[in-house]
This record gives sequence, C-alpha cells and structure tokens, in this order.
Amino acid sequence: MKNTLIVNYTPREGSTTKKLVDKFIEFNKDRTNITFLDLAKNTPDLLLEENLNLYVNRNFGGVELTAEQSKVLAKNDNFAAQILSADFIVIATPMYNMSLPATVKAWIDAITQVGKTFAFTAEGMKGLCENTQGLVLMTSGSDFSIEPFKSMNHATPLLNACLGLVGVPTENITVFGTQQYADKVEGLIENAKQEIETVSSKWY
Ligand SMILES: Cc1cc2nc3c(=O)[nH]c(=O)nc-3n(C[C@H](O)[C@H](O)[C@H](O)COP(=O)(O)O)c2cc1C
Repeated sequence: MKNTLIVNYTPREGSTTKKLVDKFIEFNKDRTNITFLDLAKNTPDLLLEENLNLYVNRNFGGVELTAEQSKVLAKNDNFAAQILSADFIVIATPMYNMSLPATVKAWIDAITQVGKTFAFTAEGMKGLCENTQGLVLMTSGSDFSIEPFKSMNHATPLLNACLGLVGVPTENITVFGTQQYADKVEGLIENAKQEIETVSSKWY
C-alpha cells in the first residue's frame, strides 16, 4: 500500500475544512496507509535566531553540526523526512488573511530544505520528492475564485508553488465562499466531496 501524509490544520469547532478531510479519510482508509499530522497540536518550530542560523550554516554552508545543535533542528527535520517518505500528500487548511495560517506556513518553512527536499542544480532548482503527488483542500469565507478577490488569493498559489518547489505537483479542491454563499454552502461541500472521490480514484 502507498503512504499518504495528511497535513491538517482544522482547529475550529465545526470546521468546514475538516469535513473535507473526514471525507478523504473515510473514502480512502482502506486504500492507503495514512499518517495524520495535526498542525494545531504538533506545531513546527518558527525559524528564529538559533535554529535559522544552524539551518543556514548546515544546509547552505555544509557545516557539520554537533549532536546538540542537530537536536535543535530535529523537529523540523522530522517534518521534512515525513514528506520524503510519502507517496501522496494532502494539505487541509482554511485561508487566513488572504494567505495561510501561520502554523501551516511554519510547516512549509520546515519542509522546504535545500539539500534535503530541493537542490540547486545547473538547470535551476530541483525538487527531491520523487513520484509524489499532492492535494490541497482549502476553504475560505469569500469567493476567491472570481474577482475582486481572485487576485488576492495568496493561499492556494503559495501552497502550489512551495510544494512544486520540492517536487510535489498539486491539485486543488476548494470551497471558496463558506460565508459569502452561506445559503448554498452544503451544496458546495457536496461538490468538493465528489471531487475528492474523483482524485482519490485516480490516485489509489
Ligand atoms: C483568523 C481568520 C482569518 C480569516 N481570513 C480570511 C480571509 O482572508 N479570506 C476569507 O475569505 N476568509 C477568511 N476567513 C474565513 C475562513 O477562511 C472560512 O470561514 C473558512 O471556511 C474556515 O475554515 P474552517 O471552518 O475549517 O475553520 C478567516 C477566518 C479566520 C478565523
């Protein structure tokens, strides 16, 4: 069986995004080995003074770290290792302030590691995740699929670009407009669930 990593940030009580994750799990639990990473409970380390400099010195400078220094990077390194061993990656998150919840961005900063998940080559940057596919499940209060908000969507493009950088092409299933279309949100969720079935049947 192939391995699927679900990267989940759905802490709100009654979360709409969680309905999509639950559908994905319920539909696929017998088709793939699922590892569930709950970013609201297991939060990556922000890149601050100590760990950022250790990361830069090690990954960009080739400096060998002491065991103690390596421990400082261990948590984020584990997140990077997790994506390297996944065949499929699902990221489920709402849009926050046109972009990603900080915890989800912290996860992106943890997994995007030169020398581990991407490399600089003569042809440019190359993702080191091989044969991995991604799916973004996202909800937002307003409709970001049309203007005036479409050009302000820094959430799905950011995830698609960063996952692309590490070698993971992504598909997106969104429920944009959970508040704007409150009267028809159930139908939008049902459509998204159908799309989850379609992508899942293609994957497994
Ligand atoms: C802190 C915060 C920031 C948000 N920012 C945006 C935003 O920029 N654009 C938007 O359309 N909705 C925004 N929303 C609304 C959520 O994206 C929307 O309600 C989403 O469906 C919530 O997902 P959930 O039910 O899984 O928590 C925000 C909500 C919160 C709590």
